[in-house]
Amino acid sequence: MRALARLALATCVVAAPLTAVVAAHAADEPTPVTVLTSDFEDNTVQGWTGRSAETLAVSTTVAHGGTHSLAVTGRTATWNGPSLSVLDTFEKGTSYTISAWVRLADGSDNARLSVERRTSGTATYETVVGNTAVNSSGWVNLSGHYTLSADVDFLTVYVETASTTGSLYIDDVTASYVPALPIQTDIPSVKDVVTEFPVGAAITGAEITTEHGDLLAKHFNSVTPGNALKWDATEPTENVFSYTQADPLIAFAKAHGMKVRGHTLVWHNQTPAWVFQDATGAAMTATAENKALLLARLENHIRNVAAHYGDTIGTWDVANEVIDESQSDGMRRSTWYDITGLDYLRTAFAVAREVAPTAKLCINDYNTNVAAKRDALYNLVVKLKAEGVPIDCVGHQMHINVSWPSISDTEAMLKKFEGIGVEQQITEMDVSIYTSSGETFPAPPADRLLSQAYMYRDMFALFRKYRADLTSVTLWGLADDNTWLDTYPVARKDAPLLFDTRLQAKSAYWGVVDPSRIGGTSSPSASVSPSTSASPGAGTCAVTYRVTGSWTGGFQGEVKIANSGTAVISGWKLGWQFTGGQVVAQLWNGSVTQSGSAVTVTNASWNGTIAAGGSASVGFLGSWTGSNPVPAAFTVNGTACTVL
Ligand code: XIL
Repeated sequence: MRALARLALATCVVAAPLTAVVAAHAADEPTPVTVLTSDFEDNTVQGWTGRSAETLAVSTTVAHGGTHSLAVTGRTATWNGPSLSVLDTFEKGTSYTISAWVRLADGSDNARLSVERRTSGTATYETVVGNTAVNSSGWVNLSGHYTLSADVDFLTVYVETASTTGSLYIDDVTASYVPALPIQTDIPSVKDVVTEFPVGAAITGAEITTEHGDLLAKHFNSVTPGNALKWDATEPTENVFSYTQADPLIAFAKAHGMKVRGHTLVWHNQTPAWVFQDATGAAMTATAENKALLLARLENHIRNVAAHYGDTIGTWDVANEVIDESQSDGMRRSTWYDITGLDYLRTAFAVAREVAPTAKLCINDYNTNVAAKRDALYNLVVKLKAEGVPIDCVGHQMHINVSWPSISDTEAMLKKFEGIGVEQQITEMDVSIYTSSGETFPAPPADRLLSQAYMYRDMFALFRKYRADLTSVTLWGLADDNTWLDTYPVARKDAPLLFDTRLQAKSAYWGVVDPSRIGGTSSPSASVSPSTSASPGAGTCAVTYRVTGSWTGGFQGEVKIANSGTAVISGWKLGWQFTGGQVVAQLWNGSVTQSGSAVTVTNASWNGTIAAGGSASVGFLGSWTGSNPVPAAFTVNGTACTVL
């Protein structure tokens, strides 16, 4: 149970190690597109340079593949190492897998793979693969994911070491991406189905661009910056405030008429070390001076951050995770508490109310469905409210899993806070497919995805029943390609959200939107009685064919079949002829055969039925040479369709 297993949170994880990231639907994954390969086999350094004055030269002393590698000698600092510009290679919002083989000339150390990006001269360093043991006796692979989230004028991939400055080799460096799938536009928007309260998603930098931005805008009407408003992002250095991470997210929310939850003003994690250092730079001890200093820093922080956003942020998680039910007074022994007692909470809420008078002010915590934790939080809220501390709202994080907690415990949680003058919000819901820290699955098992769908179904039914208490429900992430659970509590691929790693609706989505479709066995027209079904081929159809992406030799396409007749299409075969020698390499949402230029696509198990007025879409990756003409004619079940 997470209540017992919860570990200290890692600070800002930028990228997950590849070893932990196994595709959720490995069988459906299309071939990655490789955008960078450095194998040094042509006896040149292939654009690599040193980060300082070190020497780079092609070497045949050792090689990972072939006979050549890149030797880096003359390093004088651990951060010296080989670096390659990817400014013209990487696009914002695309998730790249970067892989490099590393070997030392002598001894052993740890090596890291990172990205340096600069915007108007300001550098940011992002870890792609953290410290990994390397030595001189063999090659070690560093492989991880990176998504550029900002506009940049400088972007490099580089390798460095942790403690020694000896010579090193790199070889067979690659970067690739899996082309994004267009989002499904022919499914209901979550926010249109669940209308009792705003439904939100926590997001990070890249998730307002391209397909992720489309998915966010289609389904959600509230947004929580997942990391961008935390203290380490907004005030990394004392009294130096930065809103570069959060501003674009909040601007997107504003532009799309979405509500914004501000997360978070006071927390024991992701708070820079300086906050808790005394005037001499030593760790604070519980003295009156330190208490005054810490509260002054807190006040200054909230005055600046909350004022920057004014009434754009409708709700603030003022305080996060302050309860420890194992303490006799129920309070977490954070530095905040050790130095100030409850005064940090009194100050935080009072200042937030003053600076953001219209914002709802929340106290937010996890495991509030656990009776002891729930009661400790309740006691604190009742006590502080009695003193006049302006707490408007209790936030329940709801980091749960496929078999925990029970609906009745969750209902007891909601009931507990009724009648004490607070709103309640679900602030960080996700449903892990794992039930213990010991489990790891290479891909999400079907039965777990089903249990997850039922958990979402039952929890959302409960939330909707408690609409008088709940003023917001937010999920901690947008889709399974980016979830904090990939690295917490251990590194393994999790799949806790409504959309899969390729942004397509899961059974979990149907659990929220239309439980009759959980498991994909029923279809959009399941409510249409079989007697109205027509035999295959009887419908009339309209087909839209679009090239959604194209690069040298390859392209991505989408074909949509609309049922323009009055009868249901039950099972379909879609046919067309390519005229430019194109070949379909991979296809999703259906299965494909190609014989010469003739392509036949058969429906998947879950999209075979197309109601009158309904549609089904498939996407594919293809190859082309010379030209890539659009097919002129399409058939569905042998009948010619209108081409749109
Ligand atoms: C998580 C973020 O999602 C991660 O990216 C980060 O590395 C750690 O923090 N409870 C909270 C959130 O209140 O702020 C945490 O967010 C998840 C648990």
